[in-house]
Amino acid sequence: MAAPSHSPSSHSPASSSSSIDEGFIRALPKAELHMHIEGSLEPELLFALAQRNDIALPYDSIEDLRSAYSFTDLQSFLDIYYQGASVLQTEDDFADLMSAYLTRAHADGVRRAEVFFDPQTHTERGIGFDVFMAGFSRAIAEAEEATGISTGLIMCFLRHLSGEEAVATFHEAADYHDQIIGVGLDSSEVGNPPEAFAEVFALAKQAGLRRVAHAGEEGPPEYISGALDALGAERIDHGVRSEEDPALLSRLAAAKIPLTMCPLSNLELCVVDDLADHNLLRLLEQGLVVTINSDDPAYFGGYVGDNYVRTAEALQLTTDQVVLLARNSLTSTFAGPADQQRWLDELDEFVAAND
Ligand code: ADE
Ligand code: ZN
Repeated sequence: MAAPSHSPSSHSPASSSSSIDEGFIRALPKAELHMHIEGSLEPELLFALAQRNDIALPYDSIEDLRSAYSFTDLQSFLDIYYQGASVLQTEDDFADLMSAYLTRAHADGVRRAEVFFDPQTHTERGIGFDVFMAGFSRAIAEAEEATGISTGLIMCFLRHLSGEEAVATFHEAADYHDQIIGVGLDSSEVGNPPEAFAEVFALAKQAGLRRVAHAGEEGPPEYISGALDALGAERIDHGVRSEEDPALLSRLAAAKIPLTMCPLSNLELCVVDDLADHNLLRLLEQGLVVTINSDDPAYFGGYVGDNYVRTAEALQLTTDQVVLLARNSLTSTFAGPADQQRWLDELDEFVAAND
């Protein structure tokens, strides 16, 4: 296999280091609001599950698989990501995946994780909601018991499939609506505008579910406006291209719509050429509710703590800016006000104790 031209390891941290202590950034109480559970499947677990389920992989070794993680755009990643998810077969597989992620998140100071999953990636392989929801729920309960981490599940519809298929999936999930907090929209963005999913998002609203959507990762600012107008999105996942439309920026700031940004993902998928060019700080300085997240940590070279540390280094963030990003993450969760206040108090106490 050809040597990767653009692997996570080729993006070593910038030589200029942030003046902020890395331990402080990692331990800062925070929420993660944009992470696809299937994107936390580490090559080691992927290989172990393939063996456990007797699935042949087109890779000879973990290193061989890692060397395939060389992406030129979103689609080149999605092709490998969907292939990787095929090793997930049993309730235990989904529980092991969720447990591994929540352990890592807790180690990065995450108090609340709002975790995306892609049901259609599994149902189209004959793996039902009864299998993956049981695995997720068990692991979430065990992690909360062990560490106190709070988790909500967000069911994403694949936008390369049709709006009708999304509606069918929503109805298929009817017995599990009380186990999810919301719905989202992900997968191949360009050429798949949000309006096709208006019906399923309206059904989700009627069912009392919260709504988020990927928009402006690769797609134009119109897809962000479309997600707000046609889907009633309450948070925008990514939103990088919002900067191209000043009126949209004003709207996002005035309505306090959080952007769940994912800097290492944007670097690995060539949305930006260099972390130092990321517009996250410019948007934060214009008053947008910017947050930092990991997207698909097993594929993009870092969990949420790594995303904070690498971004702080590349953009030379101040301590106040890093604390604001963590505060934004906590105020942008869909958890109740009492939980949110408890996490914000923890953040304030942590900052005061480390002043
Ligand atoms: N699914 C998993 N990661 C994604 C991303 N970065 N964009 C769209 N869909 C995704
Ligand atoms: Zn994403």
